[in-house]
Amino acid sequence: MNKLTSQKIADFAKGEYHIAVVDQIDSTNRAVRTMAEAGAPEGTVLFAEQQTAGKGRMGRSFFSPAGSGLYFSILLRPQGKVADPLKITAAAGVAVAEAAEAVLGIDLQIKWVNDLYLADKKVCGILAEGAFDAKGGLNHCVLGIGINVFAPKEGFGSLESIAGALAEESLGEDLRARLAAAVLDRFFAWYSRLEDGALMTQYRQRSYLQDRWVTALRGNERIEGRVVGIREDGALLLEDADGVRHAFLSGEVQLENYR
Ligand code: BTN
Repeated sequence: MNKLTSQKIADFAKGEYHIAVVDQIDSTNRAVRTMAEAGAPEGTVLFAEQQTAGKGRMGRSFFSPAGSGLYFSILLRPQGKVADPLKITAAAGVAVAEAAEAVLGIDLQIKWVNDLYLADKKVCGILAEGAFDAKGGLNHCVLGIGINVFAPKEGFGSLESIAGALAEESLGEDLRARLAAAVLDRFFAWYSRLEDGALMTQYRQRSYLQDRWVTALRGNERIEGRVVGIREDGALLLEDADGVRHAFLSGEVQLENYR
């Protein structure tokens, strides 16, 4: 297996980042949060070959076996910049899709709010964790991205029916480093223009859920409806069987046979 190194990623990246790669860690999101609290600068990026306790949304875990994926977290300090975590997640989703298109020539779809799909299988998950100051402003955000680049040698186990990978391992030489660099470059390009309408246009164009019947879950609320769009602020819009529209800024969406 071709090792991921910070030098290789930096060789392919165009921007200025502070990149580190470790062999194994519990969670890059947890580690970067600790770095943020110790004063690390924006653009600090930590990659791990393997995570032993990768975190997903809603308290779930994220399967992060050695050598086959990209598991990394980016430290953001938006400060005065309007930086809704939803827009940061949207920018990350679009960045991963654009990177996959540029490096591999494949089209990924984005399942609101933070998953990327290829051929009806989840290939990437995104977890943005914000830390807020006393006035409710966003002090920093740890943006975690997990991409299944190759299928793990041991398979996806219990996730086999829902998880997929971007590429065959025969494409191996430096592919992960090139993808990593492309995601960082695309993400920071969008991060500097989060309020640009083009971001949500790109996001909508890749929407996996458009026109599908779904169940949206928010706390104890459960609404079934057809996805009719995604609002400029990132809210998912559903129309229920009575024609009533519902907007979701947070929560979780289930398709039949999907989690
Ligand atoms: C999800 O699918 O619910 C989100 C998954 C996010 C996984 C990434 S992998 C790198 C970073 N570190 C973590 O512990 N989680 C994120």
